[in-house]
Amino acid sequence: MSPRRLTPIKPARSGCNRGVPWAGSLSLGRSAAALTNPNEHMNYTKPVLSRRKALQMALTVGGTACVQPIASLLAAETNRPPTFPNVLGPFYPVIKPMEKDADLTRIRGHKRGAEGKIIHLMGRVLNMKGEPQKGSRVEIWQANTHGRYSHPSDMNPAPLDPNFQGYGVQFTDKEGRYRFKTIKPGGYPVTPDYARPPHIHFQVAGKKDLTVAQMFFPGEPLNAKDPLFQMLGPYTPGAIGQVLPPTPDMEPDSLIVNWDITIFAS
Ligand SMILES: [Fe+2]
Repeated sequence: MSPRRLTPIKPARSGCNRGVPWAGSLSLGRSAAALTNPNEHMNYTKPVLSRRKALQMALTVGGTACVQPIASLLAAETNRPPTFPNVLGPFYPVIKPMEKDADLTRIRGHKRGAEGKIIHLMGRVLNMKGEPQKGSRVEIWQANTHGRYSHPSDMNPAPLDPNFQGYGVQFTDKEGRYRFKTIKPGGYPVTPDYARPPHIHFQVAGKKDLTVAQMFFPGEPLNAKDPLFQMLGPYTPGAIGQVLPPTPDMEPDSLIVNWDITIFAS
């Protein structure tokens, strides 16, 4: 049986991504050793390789203090800055669920759907010229509405949701569009005095490179205390999904969340 695929739609306005490459490192309390530098997986096109690599080496040596000035230099290289990479995190599902389709709110054979606020998550994958990237592989994974991942390393005592898929993968259409139906994830504790805000993890494979990022939600109180959000600095708007009301064919109490991703090489 072919996996369910949702037809991408064009929201009224598309979000903008103002991210830049980043090669720093962060330490978090929970499963910190599993945090991964996404740039280790990236390939860059020849024309920008030497300059970009030199800048990234400077970032690695200099740490976060010099992220923003150097990020500005990288951003100035092209018209559309690449999406700001973020850590893979400890809960990427190495063992994938049986079902991996675009509707994370329903699992075949289950009578009930996932708990939580339904969101229709969609957007485009573009290159740095703003050209749509057909056939890009878009993976998402996230916590459930209670802030719990269906992952053996997640020690959060919050309940699992047996009706939530937690992971999905799709390929973009000819306009570079992807679309998932999922729920808004809950935040989750990392230490007794620090909790991560709601976010959705993305891994996008274009023809030549791999982008790992996290999409945040606007107006979340936990955003301001999250190091992985704070490090975005002036590039914060590009990491936040654009929340829109549902269209008439959607659940009345659901939301559209639009987020475009810009990759390096096409
Ligand atoms: Fe996470």
